[in-house]
Amino acid sequence: MSKGKALIFGVTGQDGSYLAELLLEEGYTVHGVRRRVSTFNTGRIETLIQNPLLWEKRFHLHYGDVTDMSSLSSIISVVKPDLIFNLAAQSHVGLSFDLPVNSVDIAGLGCVRILESLRQMQKLSEIKFYQSSTSELFGGQDKLPLTESSQFNPRSPYALGKLLAYWNTRFFREAYGLHASNGILFNHESPRRGETFVTRKITRGLARIVLGKADSLMLGNLYAQRDWGHAKDFVKSMYLMTNWDFGDDYVVATGIQHSVKDFVNYALDYLNISVSWEGEGIEERAIESSTGKVMIKVDPGYYRPLEVDNLLGNSDKIRKRLGWAPSYSFSQIVEEMIEYDLEDQSRRN
Ligand code: GDD
Repeated sequence: MSKGKALIFGVTGQDGSYLAELLLEEGYTVHGVRRRVSTFNTGRIETLIQNPLLWEKRFHLHYGDVTDMSSLSSIISVVKPDLIFNLAAQSHVGLSFDLPVNSVDIAGLGCVRILESLRQMQKLSEIKFYQSSTSELFGGQDKLPLTESSQFNPRSPYALGKLLAYWNTRFFREAYGLHASNGILFNHESPRRGETFVTRKITRGLARIVLGKADSLMLGNLYAQRDWGHAKDFVKSMYLMTNWDFGDDYVVATGIQHSVKDFVNYALDYLNISVSWEGEGIEERAIESSTGKVMIKVDPGYYRPLEVDNLLGNSDKIRKRLGWAPSYSFSQIVEEMIEYDLEDQSRRN
C-alpha cells in the first residue's frame, strides 16, 4: 500500500533524483516534473525509469515548468499529491549573474506560482510543502556559524530569487496555515553533482588529467570556504521536515568547513599526486612535482562579480528536533566522487 503521493519539482537534478529514490524506499508513489527540452535530461533518474516495478506504477514523470503556472495547476490537479517538494532552480550561482531574470524567475517566482496554484485550487490544507532554500541567502557574514536566526545578505541573482521563495514559503505558512518548511541547505555534493560546480569540476578534471585526457584544470577563487555535505544525507532532511507535526525553517549543514584549495589538496592526496603551490592571486598555480608541469591554474574568468567567501552552518535545530545527522565525512565525499569520475572518464572515448 502506498504511503501517499509525493510531487517533486526538479526531479531530474542531483537532489531530485536522490529524493525520489528515498521516497520510493519509504513507500511513497513519486511523481516528478521534468522540463521539455531538446536534450536528454533524465540521466540521474534512468534507473528508476528502467525499473519495470516502478516505472509508471510508483514512479511517474510529467512535463511541466515552474515558469508556467498553467502546467503546474494541471499537474497538481491530476496528481493530487500529499507532499510537494520544490527543488526547481537554475542552481548555478556563477551563471545566475549572466542570467539574472531567468534565475530569479525560476528560483523565486517558481515557488510563488506553485503555492498560488495550490491556493487557487483550495488545496492548502491537504498538502505539506518543502522549499529548498540555501545558505546563499546568508551571503557574506562575519558571525559564524550560521543559524536560522542569522541575518540574510544575498549576493547573487540566484540568492535574490531564493530569498523571495524563502519568504513566500513563510508567508503561506503564516497567512494560510500551510504545512510549509524551508530547508536552508548548505552545499551538498555527490557523483551526481553537475559538472560545473566546483567539487565535481575538481574531481572530474583531476580524473581526466590522471587518465591523460586533459593537461590542466582552471579554477576561480581557491580561498572560498564551504560547509560541504553529501546530497544523499541532505535529501533525508527534506523528508523529515515534511513528516514533522508542523512546518518550520531549518539550517542543514555538517558544521565543518573547508576551502576550495583544501578540496583540491585532499583530492590530489587521494590520487597520490604531489604538487607544489606557487604564486598568488591570479598567478597562483599547482606544479606537479614529478613532471614540473602546471596542473592547476587560476582563471579570473571564474571569479564572480560578488563572492560569498565564507559559509559554515550550525544545524542544531534539525539535529535535536528531527534527529537528522550527516553520515558522510568530507573525505568520503571526495573519495566517492573521484572514484566515480575515474571510472566514468575511463568508460568514455
Ligand atoms: N563553480 C565554480 N567553478 N566555483 C568555483 C570555481 C570554479 O571553477 N573556482 C572556485 N569556485 C568557488 C566559487 O566561487 C564558490 O565560492 C565555491 O567555489 C563554490 O562554488 P559552487 O560549487 O559553484 O557552489 P556555490 O557555493 O556557489 O553554490 C552551491 O551551493 C549552494 C548552497 O550553499 C549551489 O549548489 C547552489 O545552488 C546552492 O544553493
